[in-house]
Amino acid sequence: MEVKVITADITSVKADAIVVNLFEGVEHPGGATGAVDKALDGAITKLIEQGEIKGKLNEISIIHSLGKIPARIVAVAGLGKQSELTPDRIRGIAAEFCRSLRRLNCRRIATIIHGAGVGGIEPEAASQALTEGSLLGLYRFQKHITKEPENQDIEELLIVERDAAKLPALEQGCKKGRAIAEATNWARDLINEPANYMTPSDMAKMAEGLSKTHGLSLTIMDREQMEKEGMGALLGVAQGSRQPPKLIVLGYKGDKSSANTLGFVGKGITFDSGGISIKPSEGMTEMKSDMAGAASVMAALGAIARLKPKVNVTAVVPATENLPGGNALKPGDILKAVNGKTIEVVNTDAEGRLILADALSYAVKQGLSPLVDLATLTGACRIALGDINSGILGNSHELIERVIKAGADAGERLWQMPMHEEYKELNKSDVADIKNSGGRWAGTITAAHFLAEFVGDTPWVHIDIAGTSFRDKERGYLVKGATGVGVRTLINLALASAR
Ligand code: BES
Ligand code: MN
Ligand code: ZN
Repeated sequence: MEVKVITADITSVKADAIVVNLFEGVEHPGGATGAVDKALDGAITKLIEQGEIKGKLNEISIIHSLGKIPARIVAVAGLGKQSELTPDRIRGIAAEFCRSLRRLNCRRIATIIHGAGVGGIEPEAASQALTEGSLLGLYRFQKHITKEPENQDIEELLIVERDAAKLPALEQGCKKGRAIAEATNWARDLINEPANYMTPSDMAKMAEGLSKTHGLSLTIMDREQMEKEGMGALLGVAQGSRQPPKLIVLGYKGDKSSANTLGFVGKGITFDSGGISIKPSEGMTEMKSDMAGAASVMAALGAIARLKPKVNVTAVVPATENLPGGNALKPGDILKAVNGKTIEVVNTDAEGRLILADALSYAVKQGLSPLVDLATLTGACRIALGDINSGILGNSHELIERVIKAGADAGERLWQMPMHEEYKELNKSDVADIKNSGGRWAGTITAAHFLAEFVGDTPWVHIDIAGTSFRDKERGYLVKGATGVGVRTLINLALASAR
């Protein structure tokens, strides 16, 4: 869908539908909504009087203009309480009205900017949220459905503003919103793709496409190079699969005068069967999404390259399947990671931390700092936080605060979990330096403690997205399936780290 900002009077715009809004409790709408109301001979005011339009958050009321204005449909979007409007609510509202209008077969829609007037949100932020919410909310994954969808895609969204002076800010926000939403949807595509279409080699191909499109540097390591680097943990997980593993390194250099490079690491298990510690078959299809962290850090790099902040960022992505092939890892096996530490594999289903052990040690060796890893790491995180918050843990309070802030600005919630020393005991092994599972208690925390062993003193934050990366139901701009969570947090972090 194209998103354009234009100067015009919304009542006279030629489109299939126009969108205006209403705060809860307002009986006599002013501004653009008032102007449209007048053009419709007071239809909106009447519907408010009759209690049909209340302005409640996410309420979408459809009015047929019946020739009174060029647009066939007028949608009134409820903004909720005026004092509670946030950019994230605007994202949700935009998603709702876009989907409603797609269901009504609208192909060209026009909307006023929501929240920038009495809502008190900066025009640029309001425009960004509107653009993001529309593109994210309209996303659907239909690649493998041969039947045409019942409703076609919306072709064009016009953001209409009367005051030409506001145009540059609105355009800026729209451009930023596009880059961010398109990156998120790119990640969603990779995550929703089934494992037979998204192998580690396919991930590498996607990285290649991304590097070409955005001018990112790219290195792809194969098995042989991994052996040379001493990536015993990643290779251990990979040995149960016929698909060759790949280690993908994507680099963005926005600040040539600095030697500092921010590192993003993403878990790239393209299918997690559990290995010999095999998972129950119920729900196993979801494990095609166990590369969500990888897809999201790659996508973030693409968007960062589009937005060009003055900062250096490198993404490290270990990609492999976790399968119980004839050569697979067995419980009890001992592996050695890049940093020389030995790991007893007590559960082959705790494979994410194994591949991250090598990827994180490799990132440290490359001098990347600080580090942020994104991983669908533990079912325990989903049990603790559900699909609302991702878990965040790390070895630097300052960095944790920064990442939480970057997430909040993006509408991605992060909840910190504790990393007290005492939890470390659960990871003690009798036969190696550490074991790869601390058991059922505090599963997210012991997993993070495991990762901490591979970052040394480098400031590092771990984001567990097991609960938030793949949804079984739609909520606002998050549709069913892959959410692309983390992409927007990482982009914001890079933007905030720029000089
Ligand atoms: N990929 C899973 C975690 C997961 C579970 C992600 C549900 C998304 C939804 C991970 O590799 C895993 O299997 N973790 C185990 C660890 C355990 C064996 C210590 C888990 O959480 O059960
Ligand atoms: Mn697993
Ligand atoms: Zn996994």
